[in-house]
Amino acid sequence: MFSFAIAPRDTRGLCLFWGYEMDDISYMQLALDLARQGLGYTSPNPAVGAVVVSPDGEIVGRGYHHRAGEAHAEINALQEAGARARGATLYVTLEPCSHYGRTPPCVRAVIAAGVARVVAAMVDPNPLVAGRGLAQLADAGLMVQAGVMAEQARELNEMWVRFVTAGRPWVSLKAAVSLDGKLATARGDSRWITGWPARSYGHWLRQIHDAVLVGIGTVLADDPLLTVRLVGKVPAREYDRADDQAGKAVTPGPGPVQPSGSPGGEAGRAGRNPVRVILDSRLRLPVAARVVTVKSAAPTLVATTRRADPDRREALRARGVEILVVEEDAAGRVSLPHLAEELARRGIASILVEGGAEVHAGFLEAGLVDKVYFFLAPRLIGGREAPGAIGGRGAASVAAAARLSGTKVDRLGEDLLVTGYPVSGLRYHHFAVAAWPQA
Ligand SMILES: NC(=O)c1ccc[n+]([C@@H]2O[C@H](COP(=O)([O-])OP(=O)(O)OC[C@H]3O[C@@H](n4cnc5c(N)ncnc54)[C@H](OP(=O)(O)O)[C@@H]3O)[C@@H](O)[C@H]2O)c1
Repeated sequence: MFSFAIAPRDTRGLCLFWGYEMDDISYMQLALDLARQGLGYTSPNPAVGAVVVSPDGEIVGRGYHHRAGEAHAEINALQEAGARARGATLYVTLEPCSHYGRTPPCVRAVIAAGVARVVAAMVDPNPLVAGRGLAQLADAGLMVQAGVMAEQARELNEMWVRFVTAGRPWVSLKAAVSLDGKLATARGDSRWITGWPARSYGHWLRQIHDAVLVGIGTVLADDPLLTVRLVGKVPAREYDRADDQAGKAVTPGPGPVQPSGSPGGEAGRAGRNPVRVILDSRLRLPVAARVVTVKSAAPTLVATTRRADPDRREALRARGVEILVVEEDAAGRVSLPHLAEELARRGIASILVEGGAEVHAGFLEAGLVDKVYFFLAPRLIGGREAPGAIGGRGAASVAAAARLSGTKVDRLGEDLLVTGYPVSGLRYHHFAVAAWPQA
């Protein structure tokens, strides 16, 4: 692993070196664990954690960014440390900010607290910061080091990094399939392919994304709610299916079910519901659908085209649904790159695509998928007419198939969760990079 240090400019200038102390790693690990507590609550900001360690090695302050608009991690940790921050080392998972957002720049507070050394896991990719925070600290005479556990810090905030660097929302594609790759039976039954732990994890995925998206085919077949309900609820026998069907809110419990090494979230905090997005080029969404009638804290947004019937638009608008008219693709359906652009403009930094098969294919073919989450259940559904996980035309040859890198396999009860990042067989769309304000 590589890290670099910036010593005060008037003494040693910029120096680079390999490796760092074991203590640095364990304190940074603690800062990363703290950062995870904020996952799902901080968007459009990143999840950040910080630890203040006195010169004799005592942890005197801990903090994390709880929510956009509230104090940043460094400020919370420095507040806990108080006067003991003088001469201390600050471990922070992301370079401290140097600009005014919704809160004042953190570098000022770090300098004012008398911190002697700052160790950051990663440099901020946000163009508004991008090394300026570390440079200001070095200019003020602090010893500054960056790159300690950078890979872990980057993975923790992978959605946010994509958003601030590519200018489009991060897209996760989630599917629950039988071992033979079926999304549903030939008759369209898909409830429930996976067991409770996998479904709870799926709800937690909703909670950490800004939007959850499905096609009109899925709404017509399943009438889903697309809200966060099962995070933190415990074992199957205590799981009240009636609550889930009625769309009752989350009952915070001991925390989400987590595969090993996966990000967590703060136990006991009320779930955050994502914006519900439906792809519906011709506005076939019934006004009686549960995404319309069952209210959530977040709005339901229907992405449609100019062909949509004006009366249907009005009928849905009258029930509180937001209608978003976007360009058509070559097939006359909602153009996904344009939709992604429009959602980014609204500050949506991440989308969880939950099906069905045609929508999965649409996102893959548009080159818009950043990560896949496939839940594999130990069932064999079979049936020629039963839909597979990805519809569309599919790859013409095995060599042309989308391949995944960084794959991980975890066990969730009786099911497997396979995650990975598509690296080939895809086209990429880039949007203009704007300087996303950090609050
Ligand atoms: N096991 C699971 O994880 C899971 C998850 C979800 C769904 N399912 C199952 O999947 C089945 C539904 O899948 P489906 O493939 O029929 O429907 P779908 O993928 O949910 O919806 C497809 C429809 O979305 C609309 N659409 C608009 N723009 C699009 C675009 N750019 N790309 C693709 N679609 C676009 C199209 O209808 P218009 O042209 O009218 O707009 C299209 O026919 C159901 O049986 C459901 O139970 C399973």
